[in-house]
Amino acid sequence: MYKIAVIGGDGTGPEVTQEAVKALHAIQKKYALSFQFTSLDYNGTRHMETGKILSDDELEGLRQYDAILLGAIGHPDVKPGVLERGILLKIRFGLDQYINLRPVQLYENVETPLKNKGPKDINYIVVRENSGDLYTGKGHTENKGTDNEVAVEEMVYTYHQAKRCLIYAFEIAKNRRKGQAWANLSPEDIQKGYTAKLTLVVKSNVLSHVFGLWNRVYDELKPLYPTVKTDYIHVDACCIYMVESPERFDVIVTTNMFGDIITDLAAVTQGGMGISPGANINPEGVSMFEPIGGTAPDFTGKNQINPLAAIGSAQMMLTHFKEIEAAEALEAAMKKVIKKTKSMAAAKMGFGTTEIGDMIAQEIING
Ligand code: IPM
Ligand code: MN
Repeated sequence: MYKIAVIGGDGTGPEVTQEAVKALHAIQKKYALSFQFTSLDYNGTRHMETGKILSDDELEGLRQYDAILLGAIGHPDVKPGVLERGILLKIRFGLDQYINLRPVQLYENVETPLKNKGPKDINYIVVRENSGDLYTGKGHTENKGTDNEVAVEEMVYTYHQAKRCLIYAFEIAKNRRKGQAWANLSPEDIQKGYTAKLTLVVKSNVLSHVFGLWNRVYDELKPLYPTVKTDYIHVDACCIYMVESPERFDVIVTTNMFGDIITDLAAVTQGGMGISPGANINPEGVSMFEPIGGTAPDFTGKNQINPLAAIGSAQMMLTHFKEIEAAEALEAAMKKVIKKTKSMAAAKMGFGTTEIGDMIAQEIING
């Protein structure tokens, strides 16, 4: 039995998470596994009512679960950053979820803004480092509010952080079969000499301290992964290729801030926030599964938001648990339901949020 903490969060977060839980209920009916869900109200509404954000005890409490399903965090009436830092980043950092995994896959029947690109072209995975960089909160301001104000935000990485992230990315690349972000290479693939490509995306032409380190560790690891082709591109050029020739990517590994930015661009190319899943992974600890999209306040409570990104995140959770049969069944259900939709955008799917969840559950049961 898997113990799952469910943090719906704010805005449309609870609505989409509920559909992910619905899908998992169907999965446990059909497959020999079971979940115990515990709903936790770590969100902006609780903060407004009680002043609480996320206490150290609550953070520690999360360690008892096998995984966390998270919707979205952020409240229109709370100063930006308070909840993001106090809940979301506190969990990511506190539980040392040092990998943020964001698969970029265009499914059949999903519209992409990229001209002449299809599901075969837009099919890669971004490994975003999730524990360092500009996100550590290190920095300071001098002479605040004066004409002489100086503001410093420090980009911090250790050798250890770069290395564990790059090893994770090399391992993904070593095992990844194109077309199935998660599946291992088949014996036929290996016979054909198939190898995946890993692309390091940073900016070492300008920021030589941090990215000099990343490049050195990358070079150090390359000989240990002889079957993985390697490539390097600067992050600005990466944005060009993600639009012009996404087919050149297989696995991208990048640092936290750049990863944040390029995965929003990537999400748009695969059909938008409604279909873009994600996972915050601590390979040795508790991981958290979270769609890339935010709280979408305009759609809150309207039953119009697309739950497929949250459902896809639940699929990533199943894969993380190595429940491959169940994960594949969930993805198959997603593909079938996507074929029936009009769009991935909120309010334009041709179905309501709960209907999409019902259809997914039905496909799992039928499948
Ligand atoms: C994301 C979000 C977060 C981030 C924010 C809400 C802190 O943009 O998950 O991509 O910057 O990582
Ligand atoms: Mn982001």
